[in-house]
Amino acid sequence: MIPVDPRLSVIESRLSRVDRILAVGGGKGGVGKSLASAVLALTLADGGKKIGLLDLDLSTPSQHVILGAGGLFPKEERGIVPPVVNGVALLSLAYFLDEEAAPMRGADVSNIIVELLAITQWGGLDFLIVDLPPGLGDAVLDVLRLMRRAESLLVTIPSKVAFAAAERSWELLKGLDEPVLGLLENMRREEPSALVTHGCSARGIPYIGALPYDSGLEAALGDSGALLRTAFAGGIRRAASTCGLL
Ligand SMILES: Nc1ncnc2c1ncn2[C@@H]1O[C@H](COP(=O)(O)OP(=O)(O)O)[C@@H](O)[C@H]1O
Ligand SMILES: [Mg+2]
Repeated sequence: MIPVDPRLSVIESRLSRVDRILAVGGGKGGVGKSLASAVLALTLADGGKKIGLLDLDLSTPSQHVILGAGGLFPKEERGIVPPVVNGVALLSLAYFLDEEAAPMRGADVSNIIVELLAITQWGGLDFLIVDLPPGLGDAVLDVLRLMRRAESLLVTIPSKVAFAAAERSWELLKGLDEPVLGLLENMRREEPSALVTHGCSARGIPYIGALPYDSGLEAALGDSGALLRTAFAGGIRRAASTCGLL
């Protein structure tokens, strides 16, 4: 007999009132996926959209720090309802972990993702933004499996190693026939990098913009108003309108 997980049938109905799902990935760690997903969420919420943000970097979640969600906790109500932080409904394992490290094997990762998706009451959303961990591991594959409508947004920095990882993600997604909005170049220091723009056109990856290296970003962490005033947020706004999200 094939074991059936009853949670799988619940997930689709939990996401039924979510208009669009955006998965922010890219392969490498430290390239700014979490910052880009947080500031995109704040920007779209600021523009009047109903936004959810799901932190799927399960072992090292950071959205609660970026958005300043200290002291908040999900409400239990036929599942859990994520607290709204500066206009963004944020769900993260950080609420349940305190500051402890959370080592996880692949099966644990899948199990937790299925559980989170099955119990979370997002309600009606214009966008659910998913902050992915680095790599092409279980979390990424589970998002593709469980959130069938997810559109991917890839993030890289102008470095051969990071771009090579983004290229691998692109190839995986295209191979699976998954929609990709395009690639964001983060931590641009001057002009958009030829490595990235030429690499994108060689592969057919839509290039959706460059986010400047922003030395003011660190001081703005935890303060959504300050984050929205950064040069980084200016880049996110331009990229969001390039993709037709705003
Ligand atoms: N454009 C930028 N300018 C300056 N610092 C940045 C920029 N983008 C990201 N950072 C910083 O780089 C670090 C890694 O970013 P993060 O979003 O956590 O990366 P990832 O989620 O890809 O691992 C963080 O400390 C973040 O504040
Ligand atoms: Mg991250």
